[in-house]
Amino acid sequence: MNFFQFVVVGSLAVACSAHLCLLSPPQRGTMMGINKAGANDCGLTTSPCGGRMAGMNPTYFKTGENITVVFQKNLDHYSKSTPGNFKVNLMMDNASTATATATIMDMGEPSLSLYSTSMMIPKTATKGKYMIQVVYNTMNPDTGVPPQFYQCTDVMLH
Ligand SMILES: *[C@@H]1O[C@H](CO)[C@@H](O)[C@H](O)[C@H]1NC(C)=O
Ligand SMILES: *[C@@H]1O[C@H](CO)[C@@H](O)[C@H](O)[C@H]1NC(C)=O
Repeated sequence: MNFFQFVVVGSLAVACSAHLCLLSPPQRGTMMGINKAGANDCGLTTSPCGGRMAGMNPTYFKTGENITVVFQKNLDHYSKSTPGNFKVNLMMDNASTATATATIMDMGEPSLSLYSTSMMIPKTATKGKYMIQVVYNTMNPDTGVPPQFYQCTDVMLH
């Protein structure tokens, strides 16, 4: 990458809002162009799932299992004065309260950085249809309204 490209990427990050993509388990809908910052498929801002409906191919997990969730900060919009975070929520597919949750702080990693977190599914969880929702809370007042980004993936607990 030469200096000119670096400057262009940097100024885009100022003009656009931040972006999030959920890689594993794979997010609902498409996941195109994720090697570039600002991919459309990573720029979903509607709660709870970016406006994407449940799919037909859930990922199967067992209750009591320790699972790994991998997501990408597709476009960085870190604010030093108001740092944000990422929330990973396992919840019933009607978006009721979370059965398990994990929080990862945004430390200002660059666009396209990958994050991986483990999460224990309680042994006592009711079996059935769930989803994992990942929220990028940018906390950045300059991101535009709203400053949150959403992705979901379908899960079946058995
Ligand atoms: C879950 O898995 C992660 C990653 O392999 C590991 O670091 C963590 O200790 C495990 N947690 C439990 C409670 O087993
Ligand atoms: C979500 O579904 C569960 C299981 O069917 C039910 O117990 C719960 O009341 C529902 N919550 C909402 C907000 O509809």
